[in-house]
Amino acid sequence: MRIIIAKSSSEAVEIVSDMIFNKLQSEQDLVLGLATGKTMEPVYKEVVEKVKASHLDLRSHRFFMLDEYIGLSTSHPSSFKSYINRHLIAPLKLVSDQFQFPTVGTEHLSKAGEVYEEKIKQAGGIYLQLLGIGSNGHIGFNEPGSSSDSRTRIVKLTEETRKANQSQFESGSVPEEALSMGVASIMDAKELLMLATGASKADAIKYLFNHHDDESCPATFLKAHPRFTLVLDPEAAGKISLNI
Ligand code: F6R
Repeated sequence: MRIIIAKSSSEAVEIVSDMIFNKLQSEQDLVLGLATGKTMEPVYKEVVEKVKASHLDLRSHRFFMLDEYIGLSTSHPSSFKSYINRHLIAPLKLVSDQFQFPTVGTEHLSKAGEVYEEKIKQAGGIYLQLLGIGSNGHIGFNEPGSSSDSRTRIVKLTEETRKANQSQFESGSVPEEALSMGVASIMDAKELLMLATGASKADAIKYLFNHHDDESCPATFLKAHPRFTLVLDPEAAGKISLNI
């Protein structure tokens, strides 16, 4: 695990957006795995600015979303499809064909996980997977208790996660279920890039530092990945002690 502790939250965002932009610039036909959430909003803003300023052509790249709520129409403003449309697709005038979403609107929901895994495989696998972390240590929507061999599947959201995400819902409550890439699906990516900002992530980050392969904090599984970079701001790093 490579750890970068930035001097500020904005520096952490800058580091992550630079890494993404550099990959978009240097790789042909990149397959990028994307996360949603508040942490990523300033990252996408920076990426959009950098792409616009450099006139970078993104048409050969493809994007896979980590997860999606079940029970919301995909046009609902709080769906992750709407989120990425607002933050990336519309500002960069990308075509939605470049994006793949866990398909939650089908009658065959029980098969949707397998279908999504197959789509990732057909695309040649994910090159770089962007990740946030829940205050309970979840990655994607792999809540505590998720196993290291889990794949894209229907997951039940914890009350803690539903409460944390309530602010993204102007009206109505957070759905109880989602379709999420699994821990094993995430680990298949060639590179993992996690960003954690703010004091609300400090306990999960401390736990991640001190534990390995621990189902009660699925983010700990990522430490076994050969190319896992963790970028923190001072608040998220506030409870770790580095014995250098
Ligand atoms: C989002 C996702 C989640 C978030 C995590 C942090 O697609 O999969 O794992 O990354 O819940 O969310 P924020 O950034 O809102 O604190």
